[in-house]
Parts: sequence; structure tokens; C-alpha cells
Amino acid sequence: MEFSTLTTSSLHQSKTAALAVGIFKDGVLSPAADTIDQASEGAIRAVLKSEFTGKAGSHLVLRNLSGVRAERIILVGLGDQKKYQATGHASAEAVFARYCVDARVTEAVSSLASIDCPGTTLAARARAFAVAMGNAVYHYDATLSKKADHPAPRLKKVSTWVARGDAPDARTGLDQGKAVASGMALCRLLGDLPGNVCTPAYLGQTAKDLAGEFKTLKAEVLGQKQIEALGMGSFLSVAAGSMEPPAFIVLRHTPASAGSGGKKASTPAGQAPIVLVGKGLTFDSGGISLKPAKGMDEMKYDMCGAASVLGTMRAVAELDLDREVIGVVASCENMPGQRANKPGDVVTSMSGQTIEVLNTDAEGRLVLCDALTYVERFKPAAVIDIATLTGACVVALGHVNTGLFSSDDTLATQLLDASREANDPTWRLPIDDAYQKQLKSRFADIANIGGPSAGAITAACFLSRFTDAYPWAHLDIAGTAWTTGSNKGASGRPVPLLMQYLIDQSGQANS
Ligand code: BES
Ligand code: MN
Ligand code: ZN
Repeated sequence: MEFSTLTTSSLHQSKTAALAVGIFKDGVLSPAADTIDQASEGAIRAVLKSEFTGKAGSHLVLRNLSGVRAERIILVGLGDQKKYQATGHASAEAVFARYCVDARVTEAVSSLASIDCPGTTLAARARAFAVAMGNAVYHYDATLSKKADHPAPRLKKVSTWVARGDAPDARTGLDQGKAVASGMALCRLLGDLPGNVCTPAYLGQTAKDLAGEFKTLKAEVLGQKQIEALGMGSFLSVAAGSMEPPAFIVLRHTPASAGSGGKKASTPAGQAPIVLVGKGLTFDSGGISLKPAKGMDEMKYDMCGAASVLGTMRAVAELDLDREVIGVVASCENMPGQRANKPGDVVTSMSGQTIEVLNTDAEGRLVLCDALTYVERFKPAAVIDIATLTGACVVALGHVNTGLFSSDDTLATQLLDASREANDPTWRLPIDDAYQKQLKSRFADIANIGGPSAGAITAACFLSRFTDAYPWAHLDIAGTAWTTGSNKGASGRPVPLLMQYLIDQSGQANS
């Protein structure tokens, strides 16, 4: 899809299939809406009295207005003007995007980003527009046999209308949004693909394909033997229960500028890399501590941390971010097999610490701990792991906020700021040392579960034991990586948050 800016001052003369204008509650027209209303001799004000109230989330289609060249004007409700914020804008763009996809138009214009909104910049609003449009055209048909019954959206070109002087900022936002959307689409596809298609080898191939597509990316996929040689006894103990071989993926972005004779030596490209580590359980049956049957299909989404890492790396490469970023994925299946972990088994992690596996379903931390030890070699500026780690996090935060854990206040604040900027909500939970004692084991250095209370926190505490070498944060996306129900599907989160954080940490932080 093509993303562009439109800067005409006479909006009523722009010829498009669908033009979105914003209306606040109580009949307050945005400047674009006012332009259209005047050109059409009050066609908008005429419907505000009865048919349209400007309620957030609502929309109304007006066709063939005289004096207006757009085929349809889509009135998009923005709610109370006093409460209008970044999320309100993003939701309004999403309403319009959904309309465009459902109406099967091929091109459209939105004027919503031109509306002032506290706490945002124009670039951020243009980015939100591109992300909303990009997300609306995501289309899953990979495993459907009758693809003709599920036609792909037709939208090919979308434009954001802004004042002429704002076009450069809008362009920056569109480019970033386009990259975020394409990273989210990859993340969602990998999540939605079934476990018998999206295997560890499939994730490895995806990384290699990305490296083939983008010059700044290099992929390395380690197999069983190499993982053994590294001494990742904890990761391998989880993989052992399955016939599917594990994969340990390293995907590295080196900014194009870094190769040009140190020309930009003062840019962030010369700084220590930022490392993302993803949990890549392509299926989590629980292992010998088998999960109940109900909803178990959703454990194909247990690789969404890995998917978000690959999606973010795609976006990083698309923007050629001026900062070295390394994506690491530890991927395997958790199955009850003859060689599977048994409750009570003691395994030795790459760090040398021994772990008592009291519950084989707490496998994410067993996989991640070895990846967290592995990445020490990069001497990272920061390491962020992303994992569908605990049901307890879903109990605590539901499906709205991703759980953020970090003992580094600077890193935590940077991630919370990025989360706000990107409309990708995150809530910080504590990891006080006082919780660590729940992980005491009689037979190993540490137990892999911490009892019934504070499950999301004790999982983070477990990981923290392997992160002494660098500033570290952990994102528990168990409640936010996908939605259940009839509209089941991966969300693409937290790609927007990760990308915003990386943009902020790179030389491209201009908005
Ligand atoms: N992948 C699950 C966590 C999960 C559960 C994510 C539901 C999303 C929805 C993880 O491997 C797991 O099974 N965790 C256990 C830990 C427990 C045994 C300490 C859990 O949360 O029940
Ligand atoms: Mn599990
Ligand atoms: Zn799991």
C-alpha cells in the first residue's frame, strides 16, 4: 500500500473515493469538516442535529454532496473535545480504515491527523494513521482452501491531509508508520499460522528471508548441535519433549551508515547494540504438566514474543534505523514426550545455575534464561525480552496493558514513554527482591515456579537471575499478543512500542 500526504487548501475539490473528516460531540466541527460543510452548503451541519452526534467510535457516510468532489464523506465521531487524546485519534483512524476496507475502496484520504490533539505531534498522528490503515488491510488466508471467498482488501493508496508546511513532518510519520505496520503484519501472520506450519524451523527461515530482503540484516540460525555446544541445558530440556528440532535465531541489523568509513561515527550507530529477545514456543502443550484441553489451540500463539522480535527487526531494517539492533529468538515446542522434562528434574542452564523444574508448563523462563545468558556477548546497551510468559499477567492486567518489569528505572521510563507515544499500553509491575524467596529450591539453585501468588512477578524474578550483565526489561504479553473469541487473531503488539523505543534511541528521533 502507498502512503502519501495531501496538502491542497481546497479539500472539497479533492477527488477521492472516501474522505474522512472529524466531528466532536455536541456538533463541534474540525476545520476540514467545516471546509466540506461550507462547500456543500451545510450538508454536514444538517445531519448533526439528528443522525450524527459525534460519539467516539461512530461514523456516518454522506454521498455525492454538491460542491464536493469526494464520492463519499465519512463523518468520524471524535467524542468529547476536552478528552480528545492520542488514543482517541488512533481509534478514529481505525474506524475510518475499517470502513474503507469494508466498502472495498481502492484509495482514500483522511484529514483526522490535521486535528490538534494534546500530547501528540503531527508526525506521531501521521504515524498512527499509517499504522491504522496498515493494520486494517492485514488479511489472513494462508491456510484457507477457498481463498476467493475471502478476498484481500482492495485499498492501494491512502493519504493524510495536512497543511502544506506540515508535509515534511507528516512524511516522517508516514514512513515510520508504514514500517511499523509492515512489522506488525509479519508479527500477526507468524502468530496466526498454525503450530504445524509455523515451527521453529519456519521462524528460522523467516529470519533468513528477512536477511535476504534487507541488506542491513544478517541471520544466523543455530540447530540442536550448536545449541548443545553452547551449553543451553535449560532451553534444550524443554525442546527434548518434541520431535520438532529447536532453533536459536540471531538476526542482526547494522545501519548502512556504519559501513561508510565511520562517516557518521558520532551517531548512535556507534553505540552498544540494543538486544531484543523473544520467546518462541511454537506450541505450548504444557508438557508433562499438561494444560487442559479447552483453549489449548491458542498456545500456538506462544511464539508471539519471537514474532514481535522478527516483526520489529523487519521495521528496523525498512527504516534503516541508525542504531545497531540484534533480535534473538529461542524457539521450540513444549510437548509431553519420552524425553520431556519431568516435574522434579534438575537442569543446568548456560549460566551454570541449576534449575529444578517443578512444573513443566513454566517452560518460557527455561527457554529465555539461556537466551539471556547468550546475549551477554554483545555487551548490550539494553536487553528487552518479550514473552507470552504467564497466565497470571492476564489475571493482573487483562487484555489492555502489557506487563513491564525492570529494575532499571531509566529503561523502564523510556519504555513507558514509548508505550504512550505509540498507543501500545504498558503497565509497570514490581520485581522487589522480597519476591525472590518464592523461587527457593531444596534441590537446585532456583525453582522454575514461585507458588500461586504473584505469578507474573516471580516469573520476571526468575529471568532477572540471568541478567546481571546489562540493563534489562521484560515485557509479558500473555494478555495482549492476541485476541480470543470469534475474531481470534494476533494483535501485532508490542511491535509499535518496541519500534517507538528504538526510534527514540536512534538518530531518527525527531518527533
Ligand atoms: N505460555 C504460558 C502462559 C500463558 C497462558 C500465556 C495463557 C497466555 C495465556 C506459559 O508457558 C505458562 O504455561 N505459564 C504457566 C506458569 C505456571 C505453571 C507457573 C501459567 O501461567 O499458568
Ligand atoms: Mn507453559
Ligand atoms: Zn508458554
